[in-house]
Amino acid sequence: MLRVAHVLLSFPLLFLLLLCRSSPTAATAQPDIVDETCNQTASDDPNVNYTLCVDSLRSVPRSKHADLRGLAIISLRLAKANATHAKSLAKALLKAEKATMSGYEKSCLETCRDLYGEAVSSLKSTVRMIKAERYVDAKVYASSAVDAPGGCEDGFQEGGIASPLAEENDYLFQLAVIALAITSRLG
Ligand SMILES: *[C@@H]1O[C@H](CO)[C@@H](O)[C@H](O)[C@H]1NC(C)=O
Ligand SMILES: *[C@@H]1O[C@H](CO)[C@@H](O)[C@H](O)[C@H]1NC(C)=O
Ligand SMILES: *[C@@H]1O[C@H](CO)[C@@H](O)[C@H](O)[C@H]1NC(C)=O
Repeated sequence: MLRVAHVLLSFPLLFLLLLCRSSPTAATAQPDIVDETCNQTASDDPNVNYTLCVDSLRSVPRSKHADLRGLAIISLRLAKANATHAKSLAKALLKAEKATMSGYEKSCLETCRDLYGEAVSSLKSTVRMIKAERYVDAKVYASSAVDAPGGCEDGFQEGGIASPLAEENDYLFQLAVIALAITSRLG
């Protein structure tokens, strides 16, 4: 009786021991979906910043267990959060500099605010299209979000004004490009 119990106990133990031994090799052998996806998108599209792609996706713990579709949605939400952030910055600038800025500068900032708002809704629509497996439409919406930061910069450049949103536009452009590149790999 004791012997049987011993055997019953040691089997799971042995199994666990084997598992523990083999797991480190299994983990290193397993391809990292984030790394793989960012590598592929960066080689497809020279605008994709590999480091930012990996860093931004890894900032969301869920991406470790996501598939390509899940990663696309995560990257779109990151870009959407950044567009929301940029929009509130444009609004804050409009308020803070109301008294001192030129009419031209004001119209630039208003354009930026509106473009960011449109980017937010395009990125939302992209997620909706992915969920509906309408990948061609998803790509169209994601592409329009990529254009927003450049459209914002154009106004300042044409007026010979230093853009107060240059950093935001650079960041948002890069995140949107990553989201578009991953979205384009679907379907
Ligand atoms: C991705 O690229 C990086 C740097 O080029 C490299 O170190 C890494 O091994 C690559 N990973 C995969 C999964 O291809
Ligand atoms: C790519 O992203 C990294 C991390 O955010 C950043 O340090 C680097 O400047 C970016 N490269 C380019 C070319 O924008
Ligand atoms: C968005 O980009 C800005 C840089 O313009 C950065 O400071 C901020 O942390 C980003 N926010 C999100 C939510 O990604």
